Amino acid sequence: MSVKAVRGFSDILPSEIWRWRLLEERAREVLDGFGFSEMRIPILERMELFSRSIGEETDIVEKEMYTFADRNGDLITLRPEATASMARAYIEHKMYAFDPVAKLYFIGPMFRYERPQKGRYRQFHQIDVEVFGISQPMIDAEVMAILMHYLSTLGVNGCELQINSLGCPRCRLPYKEDLRTFLRDHSLQLCPDCRRRMEKNPLRAFDCKAQGCQEVMTDAPLVEDYLCRECADHFAGVKAYLESMDVPYRVNPRMVRGLDYYTRTTFEVIAEGLGAQNAVAAGGRYDHLIEELGGPGVPGIGFAIGMERLILLLPDQAHFYGPSLFIAALGEEAQREAFALSYRFNLAGVRSMIDYEGRSLKAQMRRANKFRARYVLIIGEDELRTGKAILRDMEKSKQQEVPFPSVFKEVISRLKGGSV
Ligand code: HAM
Repeated sequence: MSVKAVRGFSDILPSEIWRWRLLEERAREVLDGFGFSEMRIPILERMELFSRSIGEETDIVEKEMYTFADRNGDLITLRPEATASMARAYIEHKMYAFDPVAKLYFIGPMFRYERPQKGRYRQFHQIDVEVFGISQPMIDAEVMAILMHYLSTLGVNGCELQINSLGCPRCRLPYKEDLRTFLRDHSLQLCPDCRRRMEKNPLRAFDCKAQGCQEVMTDAPLVEDYLCRECADHFAGVKAYLESMDVPYRVNPRMVRGLDYYTRTTFEVIAEGLGAQNAVAAGGRYDHLIEELGGPGVPGIGFAIGMERLILLLPDQAHFYGPSLFIAALGEEAQREAFALSYRFNLAGVRSMIDYEGRSLKAQMRRANKFRARYVLIIGEDELRTGKAILRDMEKSKQQEVPFPSVFKEVISRLKGGSV
């Protein structure tokens, strides 16, 4: 029996890779333009980094982490998200000493042991964006505007930005108390998970998919009615700044997010056509995370885009990274010529391809067609004798003779401006 990939872990094949490159290249363009710096974080972290930041009573920490003991017996986790690692790195490298404000991003795989389905995988990829050191609502609106702008540069429109405020620990305390009382009064209708978690983490019940819990939660008290003056003003500021940038949004007072570090602003971008896993990106503010992880009292806000989900939303366009040039050679001498020439083109960054097997000219042309080569250079015995190769434009179905010494320059100049 052949060995298959682990469930929930996927290969990204050459036919798909252009979508990934497009997402990554466009993200770097947009984020670099907005003053963000890329950084890289390790795939593994100490388990406690995630349990302390995401929260012990969350789905991620309770059921979804890939945690194991290494040879030393230390508990190590494959990162399920990037925010905690970015905060750890910010603290560990004392990035705040230069300036408390840091605008950072990271692109890479995350790991969660979830039940795989459309848009949900065990290894998935995120574009993660974090801003440390700014508490003003301006930055909340700005990161959301950047996110929506990025999506629109990819032709992904029709997504809805949903926002909410979860308040600060001060206003959340009485809210949680009232929510707990409400849940206790309805505990018979709740699923065992929500019943178990309602004392420590009553907000989780908003995200529960069980029908009984959903019915109960339609009448649950909402955090918006408990916001303290400062949190209410902050949220009003976020909305006003979004409006000043013409970024459409909808307040969703039931959005609580599945990670415990959030304070005040939270947001999700909901896309049509993704089925049950319809959040293409999500994020929020976390004003105490850095301090709780042992750093200074620096606030933070950020979001992560689910790349697999975004790829499902990309407008369908045929795209194929074929060679720019296929050199079809007939006869041993011509093949030697083609081999050397192709190497020269490759050194110059031109995707050039030859046939190594000495097939017939017809078979080589079929291959050039199959790989959708932009140009084909034909070198046969006749061409060697006359000192001219035939250069065929495959898109225009036109060909012309080019003297050997000019072939290199001619092909390069034709490809210039187009993709090499
Ligand atoms: P999250 O909501 O857990 O937030 O994940 C963000 C996005 O990652 C989701 O909206 C979704 O698009 C994608 N995603 C999550 N799990 C999966 C999965 N199993 N398969 C495919 N895609 C998935 C965070 O991770 C926070 N760290 C976001 C953040 C950054 N908050 C502040 N800064």
